[in-house]
Amino acid sequence: EKGGFDHFMLKEIFEQPRSIADSMRGRVQAAEGYLQLGGLRDYMDQLANSQRIVIIGCGTSWHAGLVAEYIFEELARIPVEVEYASEFRYRNPIIKERDVVIAISQSGETADTLAAIELAKAKGATIFGVCNVVGSSIARATHAGAYTHAGPEIGVASTKAFTAQVTVLTLMALAAAERKGTISNSLLRQLLAEMDSIPAKVEKVLESAAKIREIAQIFTYARNFIYLGRGMNFPVALEGALKLKEISYIHAEGYPAAEMKHGPIALIDEDMPVVVIATKDSSYEKVVSNIQEVKARKGRVIAITTEGDKHLPDMVDFVIEIPKVHEVLLPLISVIPLQILAYDIAVMRGRNVDQPRNLAKSVTVE
Ligand code: F6R
Repeated sequence: EKGGFDHFMLKEIFEQPRSIADSMRGRVQAAEGYLQLGGLRDYMDQLANSQRIVIIGCGTSWHAGLVAEYIFEELARIPVEVEYASEFRYRNPIIKERDVVIAISQSGETADTLAAIELAKAKGATIFGVCNVVGSSIARATHAGAYTHAGPEIGVASTKAFTAQVTVLTLMALAAAERKGTISNSLLRQLLAEMDSIPAKVEKVLESAAKIREIAQIFTYARNFIYLGRGMNFPVALEGALKLKEISYIHAEGYPAAEMKHGPIALIDEDMPVVVIATKDSSYEKVVSNIQEVKARKGRVIAITTEGDKHLPDMVDFVIEIPKVHEVLLPLISVIPLQILAYDIAVMRGRNVDQPRNLAKSVTVE
């Protein structure tokens, strides 16, 4: 049932070209500029005309929400707040008319997310769900929604559910932007065409698995890791750190790269591996200077770079290349090497990657 893979997690990482495609199937026709999310049809005006979007979730789903924040604000020009469901529900949140809540949950059973939905509903908000399990409690509690079609996720560490969530949330943001008129027809078509190319690009990253394993071997016994990214890649840094800590039990922290000098830089010495997402996007130059700051303190840098970057390989210790893609869609590609790196390190440390200690696949208690 693991399809020839050693673990469900690895199988699920390698399923992502398909699970991303499945999450777009029937919803996008790039060539015609067609985009339609069936489950949102009657609620598109509420989404597009919302004054504010509050996204709630836990763990990896919360990270998908942080990615969506950038996309919704950039394309649909709707202010977004992303909240941990557990924090949102216990602080008398301000919910106004024309506020929309988007709840993200792979299992659809997370207790805090469900309770946060009930609270927001009682205050009159319209609730959208992005769930992977059809008919789950959260899916049933929402007014409307768009399922992720990642298929069953067995590994406790979420991988293909994350990329499916980001895929669906991107489609939601594009649909809202189209309805609102905040995106040009040409950009919409360009982004839909780029989304079509994502599965093949993910496939390309998966081909680097052997190279990533070599890097993992070198850092198997590290005691700490730092992950840095900016803009769209900041939530990816958080997600990379979460993956590593939950399955390898190595202490790992994700930071927005520019925050490093406000504290974490004190941790950097020759024993500290620093994973930097340094793709050719609007933050590139800034990230390059953050890398220089790390190198000046002898940190060991593993950089995720855009294919063909000639400059970074000379500056850093290890490079993992990913294909070029429009900035808005970067997280779908840049997270893949971080999933593989975490997996390899955990396996090399002899961890039970599919069922890490103390963790459950679905957290039905608060
Ligand atoms: C991380 C992980 C957890 C879940 C979180 C939310 O790999 O699996 O952090 O993302 O428990 O679960 P769902 O999405 O089912 O609500």
